[in-house]
Amino acid sequence: MVDSDPQGSARDWHAATDDNPLPLVALDRANNVRTLNNIAKSYDFVVIDGAAKLEDMMAAAIKVADLILIPVQPSPYDLWAASDLVDIIQARQSVTDGLPPAAFVITRAIQGTKLGEEIGRALGEYELGVFDSHIVQRQIYPQTASEGRTVFDSSNTKAIKEINDLTDELFRLMEGK
Ligand SMILES: Nc1ncnc2c1ncn2[C@@H]1O[C@H](COP(=O)(O)OP(=O)(O)OP(=O)(O)O)[C@@H](O)[C@H]1O
Ligand SMILES: [Mg+2]
Repeated sequence: MVDSDPQGSARDWHAATDDNPLPLVALDRANNVRTLNNIAKSYDFVVIDGAAKLEDMMAAAIKVADLILIPVQPSPYDLWAASDLVDIIQARQSVTDGLPPAAFVITRAIQGTKLGEEIGRALGEYELGVFDSHIVQRQIYPQTASEGRTVFDSSNTKAIKEINDLTDELFRLMEGK
């Protein structure tokens, strides 16, 4: 796992236990992203937690990524905030035959509410896919995170299922299905 955000949420999460099995690297400069290609050789999967506001860090991560997920809350403000990111992604896709695949993932959805038609329309305008699976707003996410763990360390079957569904969809996108 690579934390490219100076806010360091992934680092804090990782440091919250002594026995996190996941290797974590923190990047503090966009240039270091190039060293990722070396690190990546030793792993099957590298997950980069993107920097919310650092454009050069974001652009560097997009340059090396094989697949991009954009988590967005189901609010028009979050969607509008993603427009710069979408521009950078589409600039790369336009010179690399539409690759890497990229998609929005709705997160912190309120259980039982339908995602508004406006949200679907706003997302559609970006010409990027939207995952069918959503992450719902649940206390179990911050609860387990504060202990340096994940919902897979909990007995919350709904949270576990939605993350498994999301993972399945991620693999389908990766395999081009
Ligand atoms: N599905 C969820 N249910 C409940 N709380 C959540 C959920 N997802 C995130 N949160 C909470 O929302 C806050 C922000 O989440 P997170 O750090 O994932 O967002 P972010 O977009 O990466 O933020 P930043 O732009 O600051 O990096 C945290 O307090 C987190 O615990
Ligand atoms: Mg973050």
